[in-house]
Amino acid sequence: MQPIAKRVSKLGTENAFNVGALVAGLERQGKKVYKFHIGQPDFPTPQNIKNAAIEALHANMTGYTEPAGIYELRQACAEYIAKTRKVEVSPEEVVITPGAKPIIFAAAFVCVERGDEVVYPNPTFPIYESVIEVNGGRAVPLRLNEETGFRFDHEELKAKVKKGKTKMIMINSPANPTGSILDENDLKLVRDLAVDNDTLVFSDEIYDQIIYEGEHRSVLSLPGMKERTILLNGHSKTYAMTGWRLGYGVMPKEIADKVIRLGINIYSCPTSFVQKAGVEALRGPQDSVAVMRDEFRRRREVVVKALNEMKGVKCQMPKGAFYAFPNVKGAMRRLGMKKAIELQEKLLYQKEVSILSGTYFGKYGEGYMRFSYDTTMADIEEGLKMMRERIEGK
Ligand SMILES: Cc1ncc(COP(=O)(O)O)c(C=O)c1O
Repeated sequence: MQPIAKRVSKLGTENAFNVGALVAGLERQGKKVYKFHIGQPDFPTPQNIKNAAIEALHANMTGYTEPAGIYELRQACAEYIAKTRKVEVSPEEVVITPGAKPIIFAAAFVCVERGDEVVYPNPTFPIYESVIEVNGGRAVPLRLNEETGFRFDHEELKAKVKKGKTKMIMINSPANPTGSILDENDLKLVRDLAVDNDTLVFSDEIYDQIIYEGEHRSVLSLPGMKERTILLNGHSKTYAMTGWRLGYGVMPKEIADKVIRLGINIYSCPTSFVQKAGVEALRGPQDSVAVMRDEFRRRREVVVKALNEMKGVKCQMPKGAFYAFPNVKGAMRRLGMKKAIELQEKLLYQKEVSILSGTYFGKYGEGYMRFSYDTTMADIEEGLKMMRERIEGK
């Protein structure tokens, strides 16, 4: 018997979690590891948000909820999107999910037919490629270039979007793993191509509040986009709520109904009392968001400066999210390494520094590493020292 279905061979993964398991193993051996591999704020969830969940538990909010999520939270998400994206959104167009990730799978499962092409950025969050492929789509990588601040080339995007073949264009701004931001012209091109070629746009905006320069821009704000956009957002990054598992999607009702149906098949509904915390996060005081962003800004300066001082390393200043994406090609050449994964392994096992190979984010990530600066300044400073020692061969 062959127990595993063939399609599962197409299922990718998120290696940050696999490296996390290796790190936990080293820690069990009593080693101090400098952890820069995972994308989660190191701050505790703000107290007002925790209190809302505790109150909901005390009020015995412990049963199933509506599968799409409680109305109050969908309303709060719709209000937030209407206010920030300047587009009217109704609670029927919002689907709450356990973490934002299910929205990515659901978008592909619900909208992508076998053989449909989906244009997606590369390097990017690895789950995109995985869900396109496992759902029978063809993942068409759109290269993000260091030369253009890790934005895509307009001519390349024009060439890759094809009428009748491309079902969806995926974008992510601010971006994981590059920290880049798409500008107004990039978004307009995505809109024009989506409208002219009748495609959907999947816009992952989970880092919308973690921006260091200017304001967040969304493709959803552009005319004609509401009926063809699936927008992903969530509480994980903005409110330091990764472990709560709370996210949401905004999409045309016809798609939302199917996403809800998929949710009923897998998890029935998001966790009840967590949703009350989600309402407080969106409607309560926002001061903690600014505090976290300011701290990330401070760390960003330190990380980028130190990386650029290492021999054979070049790093651009990220504009958003909490990742630096240094080019380590020079260092790899000097150290005789052909693949960034070799450098990742040497750093982890020889210096207890866990950062990720850029190839975990797609083939165009070769020669780069992702450094998450979502840990304490003390660990960042010490970890960078260790990294420099290994890279400079001391
Ligand atoms: C670009 C991007 N989208 C979606 C997610 C998923 O977020 P969540 O933890 O809420 O599922 C992440 C998490 O790392 C991410 O970086």
